Amino acid sequence: MAEKPANVSELQIERRKFEPVLPDILKTGAAFVKLVKGKVTQSIADQSEIKKFFKNIYGLPEITFKKGTNNTAAEKAVKVAVVLSGGQAPGGHNVIAGLFDGLKIANSKNTLIGYLGGPSGILENKYKVISEKLLGEYRNTGGFDFIQSGRTKIETTEQFCLTKNNLLKSNVDALVVVGGDDSNTNAAMIAEYLKKEKLDKCVIGVPKTIDGDLKNKYIETSFGFDTATKIYSELVGNICRDVNSAQKYWHFVRLMGRSASHIALEVGFKTQPNIVLIGEEILEKKMRIAKIIENIVDVIAKRSQADKNFGVVLVPEGLIEFIPEMKKLISALNDALAENAAAVAGISSASGKKEFIYTKLPAELSDLMKSLPSGIASQLMLDRDPHGNVQVSLIETEKLLIEMVHKKLFELKKENKYGGKFSAITHFLGYEGRCGAPSNFDANYTYALGYNAAVLVLNGLTGYLSSVRNLARSPKQWECGGIPLTMMMNIEKRRGKEKPVIQKALVDLNGRPFKEFVKNRDKWALSESYVFPGPIQYFGPANVTDMTTRTLKYEQFGK
Ligand code: FBP
Repeated sequence: MAEKPANVSELQIERRKFEPVLPDILKTGAAFVKLVKGKVTQSIADQSEIKKFFKNIYGLPEITFKKGTNNTAAEKAVKVAVVLSGGQAPGGHNVIAGLFDGLKIANSKNTLIGYLGGPSGILENKYKVISEKLLGEYRNTGGFDFIQSGRTKIETTEQFCLTKNNLLKSNVDALVVVGGDDSNTNAAMIAEYLKKEKLDKCVIGVPKTIDGDLKNKYIETSFGFDTATKIYSELVGNICRDVNSAQKYWHFVRLMGRSASHIALEVGFKTQPNIVLIGEEILEKKMRIAKIIENIVDVIAKRSQADKNFGVVLVPEGLIEFIPEMKKLISALNDALAENAAAVAGISSASGKKEFIYTKLPAELSDLMKSLPSGIASQLMLDRDPHGNVQVSLIETEKLLIEMVHKKLFELKKENKYGGKFSAITHFLGYEGRCGAPSNFDANYTYALGYNAAVLVLNGLTGYLSSVRNLARSPKQWECGGIPLTMMMNIEKRRGKEKPVIQKALVDLNGRPFKEFVKNRDKWALSESYVFPGPIQYFGPANVTDMTTRTLKYEQFGK
């Protein structure tokens, strides 16, 4: 028997054999898929402004697929480039695999290259030619390490021009951008630029992000959300069991997800901890930080009366941006940092930077910032990402909450209103889930998204997002097509300027998942209704291996 290579796990070897299930419509390849064009489309908001930014690709029709012979798709050999952009998400390699197979089945002379290190690879013209030999060992694996990823934003005229020249130099006919809302906004800008330059080149996006916030009526979920939430749920479930075993700690678990609380909500459903904070609700109810602390303390005090000085709290990493006074502070800080970038860069110490920025903020916000624990105030000052977002993954909100809870409990103790013990432990779960081996759902979904992108490219479409729907059903029944990128856009302020961006989907407080959560949370708060989902299963009964997220189930079936 051949020996197992030292750096390949047993699971990886078995998992390579997994054959993703393609939706029926894609099974026979692009040569047997006909395009159906829908009506012209509009952006979800700010139509006239978005139209000004995207004169050439605005208003494209929605595309759906039906069975039928399509000679154009296989006619001439094409060269396609793929780039992975932004944070890692389980299943990225299978997007490449689906794209590769979709192209090769249509015409064996089609070729695929992968830009290295994210969008900077396009600017530096660094790529690898993708062959079955190279790709084979990455099929069904997690991570983006096959070609790596990066967060470079292509935004200046020089960068657009360089992109065009490098695509021309390498004879690339189409670019597939695998990314989240910001990366796909960037894809739309590249598509617009190339059209304006009268170049016959396609740009197609693929919806990626563990955050689950790139979704709408046409994109039911972004890939990676399923696997990442399963990984976090396993860990949170284990913490719940530990908590219930030792009965002496409160665990505050901050979960990734950027602004939106989809991850916290999904992990909440899967594990049923005592408290799940939902940023969107806090924003809607204009809950100040003092109120959030009061609510948490109320649960802690009630549980302690029953001798339960333990529990688990889930904190979405974007919470800080939703607390009204913090939101105001962050927005003023964004502007102040953008307007004074050179001056701030010239100050060497973190405390010096802070002192300087205090003078640039309105007095009440500067006072608020000074009242925060020094570490949190410094974290709020950290560089914004290339798309102008605050890097919430670097802000330790869970520590801020614990410090304030401690203070409040101390006050209550002095008033003889609380007699329990509060010992807290913090966790941040984020990077642990982004490169996990994709679940069956994500392995199938990403393969279909890549294959679907190949069909869009082979039909010469540009400015579209690969769309695979009906996801709560079996993969064979999934529906495929393309959604114009401009359709999902609105105008938002980034780095002090109005910009067109794909709108983030936040947790819908009128949606079924949130309502289901509200029905249950009081029970979870005072009892130990913990659920222990265990690790992702790749082999075994279908009800365990193929289950989708609770979010998707509630959204599509209500229950
Ligand atoms: P994307 O939106 O690019 O998919 O990134 C998701 C994410 O994992 C967020 O949840 C997190 O806040 C952020 O990336 C962390 O960024 P980085 O990898 O640059 O530290």
